[in-house]
Amino acid sequence: MSQYHIKSLEEYFQVYHKSVRQPETFWEEIAEENFVWKKRWDSVLDWNFEKHEIKWFDGAQLNITENCLDRHLATRGNKTAIIFEPNDPSEPSEHITYRELHRRVCQFANVLKDQGIKRGDRVCIYLPMIPQLAVAMLACARIGAVHSVVFAGFSANALAERINDCECKIVVTSDGSFRGNKTLNLKAIVDEALETCPTVASVLVVKRTKEEVNMKEERDFWLLPLLDAAYKDCDPEIMGAEDPLFILYTSGSTGLPKGMLHTTAGYMVYTAYTFKNVFQYQENDVYWCTADIGWITGHSYLIYGPLANGATTVMYEGIPSYPDWSRFWHIVEKHKVSQFYTAPTAIRALAKENISFVEEFDLSSLKVLGSVGEPLNEEAWHWYNDIIGKGKRPIVDTWFQTETGGIMISPIPFVTPTIPTFATLPIPGIQPCLMNDEGNEIKGNPAEGRLCIKFPWPSMARSIWGNHERFKETYFSLFENKYFTGDGALRDNTGYYRITGRVDDVIIVSGHNLGTAPIEDAINEHPAVAESAVVGFPHEIKGNALYGFVILKETGETRDHDNLRKEINQIITERIGPIAKLEKIQFTIGLPKTRSGKIMRRILRKIANNDSSDLGDISTLLNPEVVEEIIEHSKV
Ligand code: PRX
Repeated sequence: MSQYHIKSLEEYFQVYHKSVRQPETFWEEIAEENFVWKKRWDSVLDWNFEKHEIKWFDGAQLNITENCLDRHLATRGNKTAIIFEPNDPSEPSEHITYRELHRRVCQFANVLKDQGIKRGDRVCIYLPMIPQLAVAMLACARIGAVHSVVFAGFSANALAERINDCECKIVVTSDGSFRGNKTLNLKAIVDEALETCPTVASVLVVKRTKEEVNMKEERDFWLLPLLDAAYKDCDPEIMGAEDPLFILYTSGSTGLPKGMLHTTAGYMVYTAYTFKNVFQYQENDVYWCTADIGWITGHSYLIYGPLANGATTVMYEGIPSYPDWSRFWHIVEKHKVSQFYTAPTAIRALAKENISFVEEFDLSSLKVLGSVGEPLNEEAWHWYNDIIGKGKRPIVDTWFQTETGGIMISPIPFVTPTIPTFATLPIPGIQPCLMNDEGNEIKGNPAEGRLCIKFPWPSMARSIWGNHERFKETYFSLFENKYFTGDGALRDNTGYYRITGRVDDVIIVSGHNLGTAPIEDAINEHPAVAESAVVGFPHEIKGNALYGFVILKETGETRDHDNLRKEINQIITERIGPIAKLEKIQFTIGLPKTRSGKIMRRILRKIANNDSSDLGDISTLLNPEVVEEIIEHSKV
């Protein structure tokens, strides 16, 4: 039996129990047998949830790119590492072998060095889904620089906020990006952002859309000539196990986005291990994750996990609806995709379209179907299972977070029997528990409570960049000696977990985490707005959409409300990005507040949900009279 590759339910239970009884031996054996190290660790795990310090494989030395690239060259040099599928289906796809990828990464790493980038420096990557994005990340890891990938749909303001938070020295971007039949001028967004980013000394620009861009002398450089002039060899920097690998920002319920800090060895071991098991990847499979690399799913399951296993990973530049809604299935057929991993919001959007978009294509190469990012509702599950899987391919509903680095709760296909809407069982090494409001663990089944993890795992985030106190506060202060996920969950009689959704002020829209506070801050910037509150409400495709309750400064404001709505959404687009736009905006005279002045979002959520029948006791509110008013106006 190989612990690294679980093949039966019996094996799963054996391995799981070992991972709980002897966690250090379990991870040590996996680390030893499946990766290359420059130096062995002194200790497998040092941890203290109270001090919120976690170290895995401390004392070990390695370079993650050696594990993702160099070690495959002898046996897989000519194997395709990345298949790039461009936005435009008439543009040829690109097959990049492990040897070619290795060369490109080394050249890019040398370009970074020539720009003065050193071990520990932060590099912001703001690129569309093109191979240079993967190359840039790996090039950072090659020389020990810390990458901070920012999703190329974020606005200049959001980009600047992220660049400044971790003081990036350089930005890697492109002239523009193709998304369906639109082009976006990324360089112009970067130019705007850099007006307020004093730490950035240079910008490397990939040519993609070939549109006119401004190049600032001595700051901006086209990448290609620099790559052409660079050496093709670059020795990997020898990194410590706990040296930072990357920072990735995620929204919190309040304040600035949190720069989750991930380190090297534990992240590598865990993402590789989960990739192998959750997708049951076999040597000649073609694996496709549709997530953007700007999110954790893209980092862990488009780049690091697959490449550490020597897999072939597909990278798609475009959107599911371009040139029409058959594009995903076209790509599956074209590249004979074996594992397909996407988000519920995409599944729901695809399911709404005519079935002929699917039927035209040969999907017989598919073996495993995956879902991530938000709850996969029963209807969408059945469509995925029946129409795409033809009732024969297991669906893995995988639960994890930017903070957890890798998949935590998920079926193992062909091993774990699946039930719609259940993420099922924890991955070996993961010890979930449910907590009640009094702070006690709920033992026994069935149970419902707040989802926590009571033992460290190798890929957990180690800190929030520059704010360890906030890390402690957010994840380790609510429940003693436990990591709190921010999610609610239930556990059925068989011990299967079902994730029910966020229990904090984070709303997941189309699989994107959005904190309510930054959106409210943006709304409040409008000169006519006095105060606002944002809540989520169920949306057929997006899972949740945003509902804003807005108080205007001047009651009886005579301005055109539709215009105001547009202006508010415009500000949100500028401050955060179009993903945070409000679906509905209701102007109101007040917001329900507790006597201590806290907005009662529970009430607003119910109203937005069109469910104001049972609002609970509102008599303790500071202003119970506004509730009636809000309900009445919500109906118009
Ligand atoms: O609420 C959970 C939801 O997505 C949150 C994490 O978002 P993010 O850090 O952006 O990472 C998304 C990709 C891993 C979680 O707290 N979530 C993620 N996967 C699932 C899910 N909710 C239900 N079922 C899932 N499979």
